[in-house]
Order: sequence, then structure tokens, then C-alpha cells
Amino acid sequence: MLSDNLKVLLASTQSFAIKSQNFHWNIEGSNFPQYHAFYDTLYSDVSGTIDQIAEYIRILGHYTPGSLSRYSELTIIQDQTKVPRAELMFAETLHDTNQMIELVVAMFDEATEERQQGIANFMAELQDLYGKKAWMIRSILKKERE
Ligand SMILES: [Fe+2]
Repeated sequence: MLSDNLKVLLASTQSFAIKSQNFHWNIEGSNFPQYHAFYDTLYSDVSGTIDQIAEYIRILGHYTPGSLSRYSELTIIQDQTKVPRAELMFAETLHDTNQMIELVVAMFDEATEERQQGIANFMAELQDLYGKKAWMIRSILKKERE
């Protein structure tokens, strides 16, 4: 059901935002200023989508989950309690980003089928947002040519 998937998307977005902030605070390395700034922008871009996801659940006539325990039940994004090295942080964020893309692509199809064009449009925007972040992370992770 579209509203159930919106709940999964909401919980996953919350998890993604928390992890981005964790990495923003804890990343280390010689490119620290860029890495720190990258995760700051990632956090603010992703958390900027939360309210709209939640409101679509209400628009569809359901209550929006709003607790950490519900989010941890619903999320598809794995929690990170440690502080990985910078390269592993980026690899993990790329994996999470690809999971978000998979989810919103499936939800685009579901929203279209249910003739919820506004939600479909929003899913397309989210695909663009995460697609652009994935490109940036792949570029960060790429080894420079000698
Ligand atoms: Fe900060």
C-alpha cells in the first residue's frame, strides 16, 4: 500500500538524515573541510524532504509515525553506531543512497498506478536528489589517475 511505503520512506529518510549528521560530525581525514561540508549539505537536503513525506501520509488519510521506536522498526537503512574511516563512510552512504533510489523508483510506479500524480512527482524529485548525491559520492571514492 502506498501509505505503508510512505511510512517506510519516512523512517528511512529519518535514519539517513541521522547517519549523515553522525558522519558530518565524526568524519576525519586530510580533506576534512570538504567532507564535513558534504555531509552537512547531505543532511540538510535529506532532512528537508521529511515533512513533505509525513504530510503525504496524512493526505492519504493515515496517521504519520513520529517515534524513534517506530522508525527503527520501519527503516530500510541500517544504523551505524561506530565511527568508520572516511572511505568506508562514503561507501556506506553510497549503498544507503542506492537503497533510497530503489525505494523511490518503486514508489513512483505505485503512485502512478494509484493515480497519485503529486506523490509520483515527488518520488521523481527524490530520485533526482539521491541520484545526484550518488554521483558525487562515486566521484569522491574514485581513485585519482597517476
Ligand atoms: Fe555542523
